[in-house]
Amino acid sequence: MQLLDIERQPDVAAANGAGLPVSGAGRRIFIETYGCQMNVSDTELMMGVLKKAGFRRASGVDDADVVLLNTCAIRERAEERVVGRLSQLSREKRTRPDLVLGVSGCMAKHLAEELLNQLPYVDLVVGPDSYRRLPELIGEAAGNPALDVRLDRHEDYLELDPVRQEGTNAWITIMRGCDKFCTFCIVPYVRGRERSVPAGDVLRQVRMAASEGFREVTLLGQTVNSYNDGETDFADLLKMVAGVEGIRRIRFTSPHPSDFSDKLIGTLAEEDKICRFIHLPVQSGSDRVLKDMKRTYTTGRYLDLVDRLRSALPGLCLSTDIIVGFPGEADVDFESTMALMRRIRYDSAFMFKYSPRKGTVAYREIPDTVPEAEKALRLQAVIAQQTSISGEINRRCVGQLLEVLVEGDARRGKGQAVGKSDGFKTVVFPRNGVRINTFVDVRITDATSHTLIGRPEH
Ligand code: 5AD
Ligand code: SF4
Repeated sequence: MQLLDIERQPDVAAANGAGLPVSGAGRRIFIETYGCQMNVSDTELMMGVLKKAGFRRASGVDDADVVLLNTCAIRERAEERVVGRLSQLSREKRTRPDLVLGVSGCMAKHLAEELLNQLPYVDLVVGPDSYRRLPELIGEAAGNPALDVRLDRHEDYLELDPVRQEGTNAWITIMRGCDKFCTFCIVPYVRGRERSVPAGDVLRQVRMAASEGFREVTLLGQTVNSYNDGETDFADLLKMVAGVEGIRRIRFTSPHPSDFSDKLIGTLAEEDKICRFIHLPVQSGSDRVLKDMKRTYTTGRYLDLVDRLRSALPGLCLSTDIIVGFPGEADVDFESTMALMRRIRYDSAFMFKYSPRKGTVAYREIPDTVPEAEKALRLQAVIAQQTSISGEINRRCVGQLLEVLVEGDARRGKGQAVGKSDGFKTVVFPRNGVRINTFVDVRITDATSHTLIGRPEH
């Protein structure tokens, strides 16, 4: 029923033009996205919902009637940034009282009450399962603050079509939520239980992305490889996606190490379109810490998985997530993490200080024992070690010819273009008229720990 209401709205809005007061008609919305790729994908979904309801995209805060911050709650720092930005935007509201200011996404769910009670200029708080109701909620927010942060274990937004940002990669959300409940992580509480989008709808979205000109898709999910719609598992789904004409590269993120079946590894090896890059979060190199984190694998099993992946997928590039300073992490645990990273030699890593998240098991039951200064030292140490390893690995690419999908102009360096290799390495090379969203072969001539530098070869 709800869906039908939304589906009818564009016709009503179009028929009315600027006339009768329908929910969106002509109002301009600006969404700022924080956090992970799932949020980027959700922003595109919200733009789809709002466009159907007659809203238009604003080019920035200045020409917007509604500003929405699509937020992340994974670490305290992420939430602090949003609170800072909201306070900045509240000044804008003083000169333009009609401006509707909203918060969506994970932080909206995590801190709903606090946001509405402590930040009186916030008009709208909308959780990750309530995006269908956005037009309605924005309408309500004109009077009193509007709130909807209910989690809905069935919501998968399956028939809604996102309005994709320009770029060279189409994000396709294939599953939502998480059932793993790692003890440090807020995600299961703010995004709810795991649910998979039916394969038919995933395929429809991939075909649509291909017809819009995208050559690369990234399948998204909190534990993407636990995908199962009842008939199709992740390996089957990858095969189906690989069959879509026009798509040249398939990526996925983030898999959980415990959900990597031999069947899946076989599929990754068989399908040429699937990129040889896997982000495989390990979090810690200490079995004791992994157990307290409830990660469900040991370092032994993780290392075995890496061995199987590397032997099945020659040239595989790997990245990971690391948390330092988890409660109870002793020097010896931290040293195990450093040693594991040296042993695996990831191409790159995202490294974080543990941040206690209210509501999680670790927050409730395991005291945050590692002093902040020690966390900072450990973070510096893992970053320094990883930077050096990444530099060594990247320098070994010098001389290779890599196929690069061109993303656009490089931020630094005039006349330079930037793109990604199959192994997800950033490659910079002279632009020389090369078009965005095309593939070029680039001979690598130099490398830093973050970037490969080269020249196109025809
Ligand atoms: N503190 C620090 N890092 C965290 N992550 C998740 N929760 C926390 C937390 N409370 C990290 C994990 C995860 C990545 C997305 O964010 O490494 O894989
Ligand atoms: Fe968080 Fe663990 Fe789920 Fe990843 S698998 S989203 S870290 S609870």
